[in-house]
Amino acid sequence: MKVRDSGMPEPEYWESLFEIDGVLAGLGIDDRINDAVEVGCGYGTFTVPVAKRIRGTLHSFDIEPAMIAAARDRLERGGVANVALRERDVIADGFGLPPRSMDAVLLFNILHTEDPVALLQSSAGLLRSGGRVLVIHWRSDVKTPRGPDLSIRPKPDQIIAWANHTGSLTADSSARMLPPWHFGLTLHRHVP
Ligand SMILES: C[S@@+](CC[C@H](N)C(=O)[O-])C[C@H]1O[C@@H](n2cnc3c(N)ncnc32)[C@H](O)[C@@H]1O
Repeated sequence: MKVRDSGMPEPEYWESLFEIDGVLAGLGIDDRINDAVEVGCGYGTFTVPVAKRIRGTLHSFDIEPAMIAAARDRLERGGVANVALRERDVIADGFGLPPRSMDAVLLFNILHTEDPVALLQSSAGLLRSGGRVLVIHWRSDVKTPRGPDLSIRPKPDQIIAWANHTGSLTADSSARMLPPWHFGLTLHRHVP
């Protein structure tokens, strides 16, 4: 099932709304990460820069064939070989990856899904001990040029509560601002 309100505007506009290096630095996405998962890669806005920073394979999923095609084109043009790109409904069908095999799961602009606890739970199941779920989402405390309706847009405290509800994820600190329009959260898997 496609996540509600997860359609994309034109790529140039979408990508004018992020400071990508700042987002990745703010979340500690670097060569300490071996393998990782990206849920809903969209145009590949973050796929290429994340793949270039980590040591292992980035498993990137999207439900939309057009998004997979756009991301694939970008990977080929960028000569990026460490991404496994798959068209898949990860909400309905899961990831098809071994449990406890990943260092990070990226949930970027996707946690306004209908059942966020279930998505956090399935993401946590992919993590090795010490692994992290890395979240970004649109701020609600300022007027933003894009983002899901405020009625379904999760605030940091809400996401932390959902994470606690999974029983296996804990926020390492409060949210950090990722200018201009986003916040970020790091959720650690704490079950051995
Ligand atoms: C708002 S976009 C964010 C894209 C990317 N994460 C970013 O921040 O640039 C959400 C993406 O998730 C994809 N998506 C929605 N539901 C999905 C599902 N059930 N399984 C996999 N991908 C999904 C959409 O097709 C869309 O490309």
